[in-house]
Amino acid sequence: MTTPSTAPSTGDVPVVTLDPTGADHMGEAARLRAAGPVVRVVLPGGLHAWALTTHALVGELVRHERVSKDWRDWTAVKTGELTDDNPIIGMIKVTNMVTANGAEHHRLRRPVTRTFTSRRVQALGPGIEATAAELLDALPAHADASGVVDLRAHLSVPLPMRVICELLGVPDDQQARLRHLVDTIFRTDTTPEQVTAVQEDIPRFLGELIALRTREPGDDLTSALVADPSGLSGEELAGTLWVLLTAGHETTIGLITNAVRALLTHPAQLAAVLDGTDDDWARVVEEVLRWDPPIGNFLARYPLEDLEFAGVTIPAGDAIMAPYTAVARDPEQHGPDAHLFDISREPRAKHLAFGDGPHVCLGPHLARLETRIALKALFARHPRLELAADPAGLPPVASLFTNSASSLPVRLG
Ligand code: HEM
Repeated sequence: MTTPSTAPSTGDVPVVTLDPTGADHMGEAARLRAAGPVVRVVLPGGLHAWALTTHALVGELVRHERVSKDWRDWTAVKTGELTDDNPIIGMIKVTNMVTANGAEHHRLRRPVTRTFTSRRVQALGPGIEATAAELLDALPAHADASGVVDLRAHLSVPLPMRVICELLGVPDDQQARLRHLVDTIFRTDTTPEQVTAVQEDIPRFLGELIALRTREPGDDLTSALVADPSGLSGEELAGTLWVLLTAGHETTIGLITNAVRALLTHPAQLAAVLDGTDDDWARVVEEVLRWDPPIGNFLARYPLEDLEFAGVTIPAGDAIMAPYTAVARDPEQHGPDAHLFDISREPRAKHLAFGDGPHVCLGPHLARLETRIALKALFARHPRLELAADPAGLPPVASLFTNSASSLPVRLG
């Protein structure tokens, strides 16, 4: 596979322009799959990249030893084609475990796996339940004159936000600032001015957080990492905190939102869960991760030599995306009914919503726990919850990375 053979020239490969407004991730995913296993994609700023559209190929990509995660290996960075005010810059030029390879990756990931343990996450359970209850108490007060509440704004966003801020010792008065920074780096409809302002504020925000937790250590992960003798440099520590803060809440906001949307548009399955057991909530979470994953496209892999995938040669130094939405409904992996939301589906085969290989997500336990708690508590209080808008017309998160709705109007019932 790694030796190019008589591959077609890149001119034969279909080209799809990825929508920076994220208007229809799953529709775009279907178009990518229909275009073939290897597709050329156009990114903001007219940059070209590749997308592999089958579960098997993406699995191969994320485990491939000759594929780098380091943005310095992308030719578009070396030539200056990727400019610092491009909307995707905040997802590309980061220095932490996400963009490190091999032993360096292991060195940066290890302090987190050592401190962000399952035990620490399980211990968060009662606090997450209390926060969910508090947010649900306040929901009716957020209803507009016609009784409609934006569930994303008042549950999906604040729950993971408060959890990650508590976990990382971010003071309450910094949460809105953090949310703005993270929202902006994930969005791909941003102006050069917005991109530049946020890129300047991120190091300031992280510097202030590290200074605070060095001065006033607490029982949080930032304090634990600051005190860790494993020798992360200042920049590496900031980068590590940044990936935890960003990956640790934007994704879970999308998962909670997509889960509520899926249940409200599949009322028979919702009714079955309401009559079921706690295990059914776990099945819901898993099926939403498979069917409507909150991370749409993830980029940032660069072959270190010319590599062949499904008969197409991808040159060294190009960028290859892992389009997690495109592979979510791959019938080769999930069967001919892969396009259907079905919580009774036996997990015939694993999904890739959390990635795979050495860079597999570090937070599935937390994301699953938060979403189970949020769904169970929400539907226990509001079993007759209903959507107050056409599900096909919900405004998207304007992002080619995040697959979710930017508001979820509901009636509490
Ligand atoms: C629904 C929730 C989540 C989803 C769908 C998700 C998805 C992913 C995916 C797809 C990757 C791999 C990206 C790639 O390299 O291709 C990843 C990596 C990562 N995730 Fe998550 N994530 C979620 C929640 C979390 C949470 C709650 C945390 C931490 C608090 C977290 C921390 C990380 C970190 C640190 C990495 C980088 C790992 C590495 O490069 O070694 N994620 N996540």
